[in-house]
Amino acid sequence: MRVLVLHGPNLNLLGVREPEIYGTQTLADLNREIVDAAAGFGIAATCEQYNGEGQIIEALHAARGVYDAIIINPGAYAHYSYAIADALRSIGVTVIEVHLTNVAARDEFRRVSVTAAACRGSISGLGSDGYVLALRSLAETAQ
Ligand code: DQA
Repeated sequence: MRVLVLHGPNLNLLGVREPEIYGTQTLADLNREIVDAAAGFGIAATCEQYNGEGQIIEALHAARGVYDAIIINPGAYAHYSYAIADALRSIGVTVIEVHLTNVAARDEFRRVSVTAAACRGSISGLGSDGYVLALRSLAETAQ
């Protein structure tokens, strides 16, 4: 099973960015954890990060026929990008949304995810474990 893990804007600055909120794990550390966990589930995970909305949409379009499923952390785009939500609905690939932080417990604007509504499910607030749980769910549903 091939899974694309798409990280959205500002996640390239993990480890530096607001460490009191996002912790000290860098994106490279997170990707290593994801790829290792995926291998344990028999999944080949590819991790990509884009800051641009259009780049994320292009990556979603390109995933058709290449990946069996996608795990996406759309960053702040989750809260307002109807274009990414439409792309998620258009590609016919199973997607799980993950947020490192508990978006329900932060600023008011973070409480809505327009992209989660276009996904199979969403996980929020469990840090890197959210990605591992999403991988586990994909591995189990593939059987
Ligand atoms: C985030 C939550 C978003 O609200 C925020 O804009 C991010 C990161 C998370 O993983 O917790 O960039 O997606």
